Amino acid sequence: MVYFEVIIGAIVITLALIYYYIKRKEESIRNKFTSQQIKYVKTPNILIQAYKGLRAELYEYEQVKKWGKVFGTRFLGSPTIFLCEPELIQLIMSKEFTNFTNRRANEQWKRIRSVVTPTFSTGKLKRMKPRLDDSIDTLMANFETFSQEKLQFNVKELFGAFAMDTILQVAFGTKKRAELKNNKNTGKATNFLEMLLEAEDEHEQMLAKENNGTNAIKNDNGNSKLIKFMTNDEIISQCIQFFIAAYDTTTSAISLSCYLLALNQSVQDRLYEEIETYFNRLQLESDGTELDPSKLMTFESLSQLEYLNAIINETLRLYPPIPIERTASKDIELVTEDGSHRLNVKKDDIIHIPAYTLHRDERYYPDPETFKPERFIDNPEFHKYAYLPFGTGPRNCVARSLALYEVKMALINTIYRYRLSVCEQTKIPMDFYINGQILSPKEVVLKVDKR
Ligand code: HEM
Repeated sequence: MVYFEVIIGAIVITLALIYYYIKRKEESIRNKFTSQQIKYVKTPNILIQAYKGLRAELYEYEQVKKWGKVFGTRFLGSPTIFLCEPELIQLIMSKEFTNFTNRRANEQWKRIRSVVTPTFSTGKLKRMKPRLDDSIDTLMANFETFSQEKLQFNVKELFGAFAMDTILQVAFGTKKRAELKNNKNTGKATNFLEMLLEAEDEHEQMLAKENNGTNAIKNDNGNSKLIKFMTNDEIISQCIQFFIAAYDTTTSAISLSCYLLALNQSVQDRLYEEIETYFNRLQLESDGTELDPSKLMTFESLSQLEYLNAIINETLRLYPPIPIERTASKDIELVTEDGSHRLNVKKDDIIHIPAYTLHRDERYYPDPETFKPERFIDNPEFHKYAYLPFGTGPRNCVARSLALYEVKMALINTIYRYRLSVCEQTKIPMDFYINGQILSPKEVVLKVDKR
């Protein structure tokens, strides 16, 4: 009995201490933001809200609607500034970027990024094209099989397999056939892993030269220049990061575009017409030996599809995959050029930019909940920092071009061959996972008719 009372007593004391700790922490964050002249708000715990069934981006949307475009709070345990003001976002993402470098130490991130960025250049993407074509062939074969078996099915499953196949091929070169056939075995790296390993070899050669006294890694001023290399551990961690960053985002972007096209038949018709005209033009310009017009597409010619581009932009406006975050590396007073906005940020403050909410700002997107691709054609002059599906500034999505390339290829091939429409099993409004870090639909069941 005494033993039981001791346990109860210990639990009560522990809970009281936790409560006291949270209160103190809350109080210190409140005082901190008050001293920075930032409105402090005690927001409900996001994890408890998720447990109750509220999705993260809707939670953020509610909070910003209630408290405004700039406020400080305790978010996931840390002092966080919620920010939905494009003028201030611009300062953080570009001019003052070096003071908001995010999670990793700046030099390490800069070095890794300097290796990774060139692997996604237009030239390298062109080299990867045969691999992407191969993934598209598999996607279309799957569509053929599924549409023969059932009238309606979960298209997300097929696009998920496509995204996985693409990342396996593009990043790790899992299939050699296409590479040998189309690149004539030039000896040049055609996948991401080979490119990273090439960069590592280059670094080793540089070190060898340095040991020989040639001082290869000093710049003209005698300072050490940024060394482009990655350790084995960093290469492995980068590959894992690719899977995480590439799979869900790309799958969701393609699946949700299809969902919106199925809901908006007139938009789908206009897109089909655009693709048909584009294919006719490609065929006219070709020597006539290739009968499948989709094989004539090139990386450059895809930019001619203005309406497709607008559809993808609008899908990512409505459903950006993740919020953007940056951490301040020092105390800094942000002031816009015209002085209309200021923000006093302290070292380690987290800047949380809920892209889902930012993309619903009525100043830039009238009637924000409506799917209107035209807004990206008729009025593309809205504030650049009010649209962040791929983030922005030096830390933006390193694979933006590859991702858009994949999404475009998948949509063109699908819509050219199939008409998509909603059916009884289609979830309207869309049903998303609640606890995922990425905005990802549970399933996208559509009726799929061969054209
Ligand atoms: C439609 C598809 C995609 C979307 C919407 C998307 C979006 C994003 C966003 C919002 C960020 C954070 C940017 C920031 O903080 O400013 C990001 C970062 C990143 N993404 Fe993507 N992404 C997509 C596809 C991909 C793919 C296919 C890959 C890889 C093959 C990839 C690799 C990365 C990496 C490595 C980062 C971290 C960059 C860094 O910290 O330097 N993403 N992405």
